[in-house]
Amino acid sequence: MADPRLILAIDHGTTSSRAILFDHDRAVAGVAQKEGALSYRQPGWVEQDATQAWLDTMAVVAQVLNETGTDPGQIAAIGISNQRETCLLWDAKTGLPVAPAIVWQSRQTADICDRWKADGLEPLVRERTGLRIDPYFSASKLAWLLENVPGARERAEAGELLFGTMDTWLVWKLTGGAAHVTDASNASRTLLCDIASTSWDEELLEAFGVPRCVLPRIVDTSGALAVTQPFAFFGAEVPICSIVGDQQAALFGQLCLEPGMAKNTYGTGGFLLMNTGGSIVRSNNGLLSTVAWRRDGRTTYALEGSVFVSGSLMKWLRDNLGLIEDVGETAAMAQRAGTSGGVFIVPAFVGLGAPFWDESARASILGLSLGTTHDQLVRAALESMAFQARDVLEAMEGDSGVPLQMLRVDGGAAANDFLLQFQADLCQIPVERFSLTELTALGAAYLAGLGCGFWAEGDLSAELERVFEPERPAPEMDRRYRQWIHAVDACRSFKP
Ligand code: G3P
Repeated sequence: MADPRLILAIDHGTTSSRAILFDHDRAVAGVAQKEGALSYRQPGWVEQDATQAWLDTMAVVAQVLNETGTDPGQIAAIGISNQRETCLLWDAKTGLPVAPAIVWQSRQTADICDRWKADGLEPLVRERTGLRIDPYFSASKLAWLLENVPGARERAEAGELLFGTMDTWLVWKLTGGAAHVTDASNASRTLLCDIASTSWDEELLEAFGVPRCVLPRIVDTSGALAVTQPFAFFGAEVPICSIVGDQQAALFGQLCLEPGMAKNTYGTGGFLLMNTGGSIVRSNNGLLSTVAWRRDGRTTYALEGSVFVSGSLMKWLRDNLGLIEDVGETAAMAQRAGTSGGVFIVPAFVGLGAPFWDESARASILGLSLGTTHDQLVRAALESMAFQARDVLEAMEGDSGVPLQMLRVDGGAAANDFLLQFQADLCQIPVERFSLTELTALGAAYLAGLGCGFWAEGDLSAELERVFEPERPAPEMDRRYRQWIHAVDACRSFKP
């Protein structure tokens, strides 16, 4: 008889919270989703109300339990995947955040990063963390909170405040304040973690002025990590058996479990990760070395190219320009356009991430003519998502010395057939899409299921839905790519 129990995956993304129930056959038994709000108090700042994020999480969990008639006692384990780097400080007694969470996309800490670079900290940071000094990562956000929230530093040093990325915050709330933990994949994105030992790095804490007592304990990505408190989770004690950064979760969900396997996610941003096994591969081409997951104390690493704006460009076209009503219509619009008419959109709204790392770049639309149509702009926007993935792919091939044989994709925009065909043509490799689109949640669920013995390694599988083979000639696509690089250069040299 089929196991009546379920795995609950909570996927807390930048712009939405999702709760997904998986049965033992890995089928989705129920999904609930809620869009969350971001605030932009000043140009370049991106913040989020962490209490609201917690309430949204509980709302989607309640909805999926209600809609499927599931008793919380039927949940064998919870897996959590989350937007990474976004972080906050909260009062250890009241659980109230001292300020909004600073979102990974926010550039409000650029000055702090400049200061750290001027202090000559970049080599130490790269060696220990595999990252670089950039407002993207959590450390400068924490430093900003300590410097700018009145009384925060004193209270933090007195042990009254706790720090966490969103995984830490959600687990702390789910456990009624009993567990203050993060997993190694999330810790590796803070700029405070020595990725070789997956522990907090005392030298970096000292250099960045971070009091040790605010930091969570680093645990494995999968295993018996914490247990919900009945008063915080619908009257039930449920084991939390995975905590994982969402991009690493997608890598696991796409079963990129062997070194050399890579995936790209077209989410709010675009994230291409390649499994590098037990070795930390250092990048010479603007990529990051990061922890993929730590299981039974053994760490698997990844090379990552992080693109700051990918799918959120479509949201901008919809919400700010009103160019589209529904992102679902964009594939047809792009097809109808035939070509982008020489238009390029470089979506550097918050600067450029990998492989350029130019925080002063700003988004640009180039190549407009009086004949440019609405459909061509939409096509150029979709093409920009693929161009950015090729930027990262080229860097990845440069670092690994191995040309990628295929690319697995997921994320909201992976439903767009035009985008995936253009991606296959542009990179001249097959692009594979799975039947299940909830691959981030599936990754968190797999790690939780493995962590509690609900599944064994042999149970994991993923079914391909479609493979997009390259159809256009390489020289034509290479020419388009060179034009894209000119567009990126133009946007970087424009200084308002
Ligand atoms: O590093 C940021 C990333 O984790 C955000 O993911 O899914 O919210 O775009 P997403």
